Amino acid sequence: MRFAKKTVQQLDCASRRVLMRVDFNVPVADGAVTDDTRIAAAMSTIRYLLQKRARLVLCSHLGRPKGGPDARFTLRPVRERLAHLLRADVAWADDCVGPVAEAAAAALGDGQVLLLENLRFHPEEEKNDPSFAQALARLGDCYVNDAFGTAHRAHASTEGVTHYLKPAVAGFLMKTELDYLGTALEDPKRPYVAVLGGSKISGKIDVITSLLHKVDRLLIGGAMMFTFLKAQGKPVGRSLVEDDRLELARQVLADAAKRGVELVLPGDCVASTAPDGSAPSSAKAVELLGPDEMGVDIGPATLAGFASKLRDAKTVVWNGPMGIFEVPAFAAGTMGVAKVMSELKARGAVTVVGGGDSVAAVQQSGLAERFSHLSTGGGASLEFLEGKVLPGVAALEDLGA
Ligand code: 3PG
Repeated sequence: MRFAKKTVQQLDCASRRVLMRVDFNVPVADGAVTDDTRIAAAMSTIRYLLQKRARLVLCSHLGRPKGGPDARFTLRPVRERLAHLLRADVAWADDCVGPVAEAAAAALGDGQVLLLENLRFHPEEEKNDPSFAQALARLGDCYVNDAFGTAHRAHASTEGVTHYLKPAVAGFLMKTELDYLGTALEDPKRPYVAVLGGSKISGKIDVITSLLHKVDRLLIGGAMMFTFLKAQGKPVGRSLVEDDRLELARQVLADAAKRGVELVLPGDCVASTAPDGSAPSSAKAVELLGPDEMGVDIGPATLAGFASKLRDAKTVVWNGPMGIFEVPAFAAGTMGVAKVMSELKARGAVTVVGGGDSVAAVQQSGLAERFSHLSTGGGASLEFLEGKVLPGVAALEDLGA
């Protein structure tokens, strides 16, 4: 699918204030950013605009503060990290709207950058309040959205502001994300294989349903496999099961069969009595799970089976870990899928990892470079793959408009 929105390349930005929404919602511990992937991902747009001598005003949320300013969610650590990556000063404003922000934006020279304090310190941001959107619009002469990770939210800084600040165009990260995910959705090379994991069917049902209409094979791991296995009448011990989704799981299995989609469920798993790794574990056929045991990862036979289903794939989308990979003893399935998938790009396949835990796992594996695309969006990439319109994208100007 061709990305049909205007981008920064169509923007006349020299000596103009550019208000740019970024997704700098990054993990912070002890006042420092612990994973700067999302900041690094926005750098190509930031560098491009600064080279074009724009006066760049960056805005973002961080975390989910409730109702007002909260020091735990300040963007100050992000400012430090950004300055380090840019090797340049990053100006700062203690508020994202009002006199402080307006003065800081007005003080910018050509090719300089300002970061505003957390948008969510104002509840009006998430309410998409028009006056708040107008206050944001006063900080720029034009608008760029490069916050793919937040594009599924219709907030003042992603949607509302575009009614008051034009042109409103996409950044390079937004374009790259939508090019890769759009191709997986609309124009995949085949065989097309989806690998889905994570704990709950309930959070993934829409993406499963959407992908069932597109893929040739669907490989299911993670705790959600046990809801499917139980739906097939298999014993699951104390594994995590959503009993209220068993009927849904049966429908998915029937739908896959009707459509001729090969839905592959694990035949073995790693079993333990403790999900935190404090008890011994061993691989066994799922049928042999004891009443006190739970499945905490896919087993080696399942991994080998998944590898054989992936080997000839030309498009692969992966979302959700195969087990509790944060516990080293239960990481083999997730790391194994990362390894198998990392070998496919060199054979001409497009390999896309959709956000959140699975991206963290790929990064942990050290194989990130061997993937076509690691999405910076968790919820956003899922909603996009579900076929939903992302409000933050819909609000941007169409090419040719
Ligand atoms: C994310 O981390 O998925 C995005 O930054 C959106 O954050 P939110 O779920 O708090 O809106």
